[in-house]
Amino acid sequence: MTNCAACHQPNGEGLGTFPALAGNANLADANLVIDRILNGAGTMPGFGGQLDDQKVAAVATYIRNSWGNDFGPVTPAEVAAKR
Ligand code: HEC
Repeated sequence: MTNCAACHQPNGEGLGTFPALAGNANLADANLVIDRILNGAGTMPGFGGQLDDQKVAAVATYIRNSWGNDFGPVTPAEVAAKR
């Protein structure tokens, strides 16, 4: 999660133009979360080349259920379907 935290910060609060993940209702949309991690957006790089389905699912689940977020798990099968 170190790469993510460089921009989104360890506390999920974001920094400058890097959006907060804590308390971010957009994270309710599992497809959006998976797409951002795989493909990036704007100045966010994609991580689809570095992370397998298991790892993308773990990161997605982590950010959807940390810092008070409560959006449920993402499975590796959901990630595979978006590749
Ligand atoms: C270089 C900085 C940077 C890194 C590293 C980075 N992000 Fe991002 N992230 C951004 C920016 C900027 C956006 C907004 C992109 C846009 O919509 O234009 C964003 C958007 C997002 C969003 C969507 C937020 C929303 O409200 O639409 C999620 C989810 C996300 N990032 C998760 C992650 C995860 C998980 C990682 C690590 C695997 C990560 N990011 C790494 C900069 C970064």
